[in-house]
Amino acid sequence: MKIYKGHLLFTPRRTAFEVIENGYVAVKDGRIVGVSSRLSDLANSNAEVVDLGDRLLIPAMCDMHVHAPQYRNQGMCMDLELLTWLNAYTFPEEEKFADMAYAERIYRRFVRDLWRNGTMRAAVFATIHADSTRLLMHLFEAAGMGAMVGKVDMDRNCPEALCETVDEAVAANELLAAAFNDPEALVRPIITPRFIPSCTPAMLQACGRLAREYGLPVQSHLSENRAEIALVHELEPQSESYGDAYNRYGLFGQTPTLMAHCVYSSDEEIELMRRNGVMAVHCPTSNLNIASGMSPVRTLLDCGVRVSLGSDISGGHDLSMFRVMVYALQVSKMLSVTQGVQPQLTLPEVFWCATKSAGSFFGQVGSFEPGYEFDALVIDDSELNFDHYTLLERLERFIYLGDDRHIVHRYCRGQEIAEPPLRF
Ligand code: GUN
Ligand code: FE
Repeated sequence: MKIYKGHLLFTPRRTAFEVIENGYVAVKDGRIVGVSSRLSDLANSNAEVVDLGDRLLIPAMCDMHVHAPQYRNQGMCMDLELLTWLNAYTFPEEEKFADMAYAERIYRRFVRDLWRNGTMRAAVFATIHADSTRLLMHLFEAAGMGAMVGKVDMDRNCPEALCETVDEAVAANELLAAAFNDPEALVRPIITPRFIPSCTPAMLQACGRLAREYGLPVQSHLSENRAEIALVHELEPQSESYGDAYNRYGLFGQTPTLMAHCVYSSDEEIELMRRNGVMAVHCPTSNLNIASGMSPVRTLLDCGVRVSLGSDISGGHDLSMFRVMVYALQVSKMLSVTQGVQPQLTLPEVFWCATKSAGSFFGQVGSFEPGYEFDALVIDDSELNFDHYTLLERLERFIYLGDDRHIVHRYCRGQEIAEPPLRF
């Protein structure tokens, strides 16, 4: 058993931080067995106490929507909207991941930079290429970080080189499911139909069957952009909503499901998400950069929908989930002043979205409570803390102003995670 001593800040509830000054977290076999402000509540004769001094100890970040093969395009190509942006910039880049040497170079940098930013769990889109998808999964395994990684499935409205037959996609997913078949493992496959415009009904049907047969989670995109939604309406005229189309193929909560964006979800679609336990992934930077719109996160939360946050590289430009939290707050303020949506999101709410709420997709992850896996970051904010700030003020300033230089230790499932190498 190990006991970590530091200033603990976490969100057991959505609405408020729990702050324990000079608190203790006891960890055994990767899980938290006790949290207290007194060592005597936890002490055990053979426990090693790790004193973090005046540093902050917070849950590690979860990025619930990110495209690893778009990493080269991070911070550029923001002058188009979704459908034209995909064709002009994104698909040509994703084609390159047939080349294993190229994939290794980009994927190593991607995993290293998630680590840098304190993201210890992620839900990741790869490409249609099974070999480089498997490579990415091995890189996460070697790093000791948690990830659900999806081989992307698509068979229409895309370049020839990114089109597969349904049989090819099924065979590739089955191989990945067999190779990564431990449900307790940190790295898991996730069924990933790109979105309805990229997948024929036969492909969607096959994805639903794969998810059900192998008991695998699902991730995709939902109601992101107006032109996209109009196209889905043409392609699936019998469906009552975009979400209903996924639902008809068994891709909407029949197994644990992530849906990125939800900018234009109707009341019916929101109700279906709530009923099916579908988790919305809010990606504010992406919604700003490719001019998709502003997601009504307050409405989603009020309706009882599960909500998390995603960087959505490369629609989004910033891999830091702290910065994504700030954008989520800013978008919420603009929705409030332009459309009267009240109340605005709060700091504990966005922190909860990136930790405890997101972490529920991986099991018991994202909080400092008994039974939770110990995923944590040690923050040395001494450079930012030059006056008598309270612990909550220190955390807020780190979220707004801090970066990877202030993250001095990272833990995933109880293990300290070292910097993943860029090459062997
Ligand atoms: N919808 C389908 N594919 C994508 C993608 O790569 N990025 C975003 N933001 N939306 C998508
Ligand atoms: Fe995306």
